Amino acid sequence: MTLRQHPDLAVTPLPIKSIGAGGIVKHAHLPAYAMCGWQVVSVFDIDKQRATVLAKEHGIEHVAETVEEIVKTGPQDCVYDLAVPAKATAAVLRQLPDEALVLMQKPMGEDFTQAQEIHEVCLTKRLRAAVNFQLRSAPYSLAARDALSQGLLGDLVEVDIKVHVHTPWAIWSFLELSPRMEIVYHSIHYLDLIRALLGEPQWVKATTHKHPASPKLHSSRSAVLMDFGTSAEGNQVRAQVVTYHAHDYGLKHQTSRIALEGTKGAVHFQMGLNMDYPTGAPDWLEINTGEGWQNIPLEGSWFPHAFRGPMAAMMRWAADPSAKPDTHFEDAFRTMALVEAAYEDAATPGVDPRRYWPRP
Ligand SMILES: NC(=O)c1ccc[n+]([C@@H]2O[C@H](COP(=O)([O-])OP(=O)(O)OC[C@H]3O[C@@H](n4cnc5c(N)ncnc54)[C@H](O)[C@@H]3O)[C@@H](O)[C@H]2O)c1
Repeated sequence: MTLRQHPDLAVTPLPIKSIGAGGIVKHAHLPAYAMCGWQVVSVFDIDKQRATVLAKEHGIEHVAETVEEIVKTGPQDCVYDLAVPAKATAAVLRQLPDEALVLMQKPMGEDFTQAQEIHEVCLTKRLRAAVNFQLRSAPYSLAARDALSQGLLGDLVEVDIKVHVHTPWAIWSFLELSPRMEIVYHSIHYLDLIRALLGEPQWVKATTHKHPASPKLHSSRSAVLMDFGTSAEGNQVRAQVVTYHAHDYGLKHQTSRIALEGTKGAVHFQMGLNMDYPTGAPDWLEINTGEGWQNIPLEGSWFPHAFRGPMAAMMRWAADPSAKPDTHFEDAFRTMALVEAAYEDAATPGVDPRRYWPRP
């Protein structure tokens, strides 16, 4: 069985200007772009030392002192690649030229007010902007999506995502200041992927909790349930995401899995990255179409391979204005709306079963 695992990489390369020189740029953006032969020509970070070290390590020619300088210097025909804390995104976008091509890291703001602000800036400045929701482009996600589009799974009725891992939250110091955390910074990847697989949910229910290991974080474990109504074939369709990030007892009982269950087949895969972040444990993908489980060898992982897809989409869009990326800011805004709906539900009390207890 052949499942397509790579995005369309047949693009005319454009130079890339990186705004942000943090962990995600070092561990995922630059390795993915190097793999494709795409050149990052300049970098700006408010921490100049960090930008300078990164530039030296990766042969980036120019370290800018300001956003204004990175805009003015070097090629004008370029992709701006933003990887700054989400609350800084809108302010950076305002300093870019009108109609600039911009790929911004997820989330599209730390809350819905910021998402609306980013949406407004993109519209006002007519930015050709998309959000880097790259889990959609990870080799295992593309393989699962290909199995689905080849009809191998039949009618997709269930998407189940379970992440039970140890996540080193302390490496992102900005998260402690964020008014919200787990759903908007982590589970958002899964909510976005689920939208790519199933479309728009009709309703969402959610909980999000603190954990004693990270008392300063707003929340670090969540559960999000979504209902997609009835499929064209008349089946009820649902999805759920359950995450726990404080399992500090080794890899043995860690889980980081996505299951797609259809009426004719199922695909299950492991996202090893979450299990030993950012180094990553092994991934695997298995498919069963009624004749037993078949292992599909994977052609790469979330880091860095998935990061090729969103950038390739930007370069394709530059060459063909009708080729809007699937994570265009209007689409990404809907993922933010789903996140907002999840937080709204999480803040709403559930049904207390004690009301059904016998009265004394
Ligand atoms: N899989 C993923 O898609 C993924 C994974 C990790 C992080 N991220 C996202 O990437 C962004 C950055 O995360 P990170 O892991 O690199 O964090 P990081 O803390 O390692 O780096 C953030 C960098 O941004 C710089 N910065 C802050 N404000 C800035 C501004 N106004 N202009 C320029 N630089 C600024 C900081 O100095 C720092 O170097 C976050 O939004 C995060 O959600 C995405």
